[in-house]
Amino acid sequence: MNSYAPYSEQDEYCLIQGESGVFYPGVRVENISFPLTISAIHGAICSCLANGDRPVSFYQEQPESELMNYWKDEFDLQELKTLPASPNIFNPLLPPETEILPALQKLSDNCVIPHSGFPVTALLETEDGYIPGVNIEVSAWSLGLCAERTAISRAVAAGYETRLRKLHVYAPKGEFSSPCGACRQVLAEFMPRNQIVLHHANQTTSTHFVKDMLPYGFTGSSLRKRS
Ligand code: THU
Repeated sequence: MNSYAPYSEQDEYCLIQGESGVFYPGVRVENISFPLTISAIHGAICSCLANGDRPVSFYQEQPESELMNYWKDEFDLQELKTLPASPNIFNPLLPPETEILPALQKLSDNCVIPHSGFPVTALLETEDGYIPGVNIEVSAWSLGLCAERTAISRAVAAGYETRLRKLHVYAPKGEFSSPCGACRQVLAEFMPRNQIVLHHANQTTSTHFVKDMLPYGFTGSSLRKRS
């Protein structure tokens, strides 16, 4: 698996097994703004939930993810000491011929939004197809994940971190779809020169360069990536 840990150099991987039997990979996804880092178990759990599945057990070698106990308690996770010989690993990709708006609309069924009731969906384009994301809310508000970041964390786990193309975002209950500040910072880490396509309620779209959406953003000029 492909974690993105250029600041700590502490790679971290996790597999969450869903009720369906499928294994969802999660990796550490760091950010130049350290508090925006997604831990391996966080990414794996959100990927599982975003697929309409329920997390039941986890497999993780050292090091343990941050807030591991929170995630274990939240879903009453069992620890797996070994993996099956050929685990059925979740493949997030939708085919390249996917029609964007219908796919964004359909994805809203998968949003986990007990607190907000506000669905947001995303499709991240790669050369092999689209990686979907939906917003996930858990008991701790600060540990939910926006649709954009669910897609990014899946993409990094699947090895696409340097091969991302456009990101499509759709918020059906919002007049205007637009990514939050935290998502802009995370998008700037992986795809500053790429475009983001916002699909609005009135059926129009607007397209923006990620770097234009974060003017004067934090780039940590004295905080070098170690790799
Ligand atoms: N949300 C997103 O998924 N993406 C954004 O860019 C804005 C906010 C979600 C997070 C939360 O589940 C809900 O919308 C309200 O903040």
